[in-house]
Amino acid sequence: MIKIGASLISSDLMNLGEVIRKLESAGLDFIHFDVMDGHFVPNLTFGPEMARAIRKISKLPLDIHLMTDEPQKTARWFIDSRPEYLSWHIETPADHLGIISFLRENKVKPGMALNPSTDVQKLMPFLDFLDFVLLMSVNPGFGGQKFIPEVAQKAVEISKKKKLELFIDGGINDKTAPVALRAGITNLVSGSYLVQSQDYSETMKKLKNF
Ligand code: DX5
Ligand code: ZN
Repeated sequence: MIKIGASLISSDLMNLGEVIRKLESAGLDFIHFDVMDGHFVPNLTFGPEMARAIRKISKLPLDIHLMTDEPQKTARWFIDSRPEYLSWHIETPADHLGIISFLRENKVKPGMALNPSTDVQKLMPFLDFLDFVLLMSVNPGFGGQKFIPEVAQKAVEISKKKKLELFIDGGINDKTAPVALRAGITNLVSGSYLVQSQDYSETMKKLKNF
């Protein structure tokens, strides 16, 4: 069963409540929430107050994607929004196993995110401890970038070792989703293609139809 998540940063932010309500009634599976700190990536986005505000208006599972230098610190700020998933980047010099236990204690599924240029072999020692992996198919920082197709092969490599939920994030549309799904991706994160479309339900159907 393929799951679709909406990345909100490219949506109509002045009407975010309405956007979320419409996505929810169109059958969205989860909200992908991008946290950028201006250090790990050259951009700033949402913080914990925004996550709490979303939690108040929607029952959709929250998928927090930390693009921050100190994920062991920032992860704590999001626990009271009761996310289903939380990912942080393997490229950060963090205590990865410590973050995993902290998330498990708080009933949040831990996932590690990989930049497009990061070797998938670096992830292998952590696979047994994770519930999911998030493969970046663009360089993190901005919505609306072009999909890097070579990244899909990482899903094939991971699936040989372990079955877990595999997310792909960046440049997903009706042309690139099939490439990802054929490689074994289970969760598609879509930003600009989905949230800027007119009919969310039709767009989600196109993403799942490969
Ligand atoms: C990029 C973010 C993505 C992005 C996806 O740093 O992590 O979630 O918003 O947007 P699109 O689908 O437009 O590439
Ligand atoms: Zn993201």
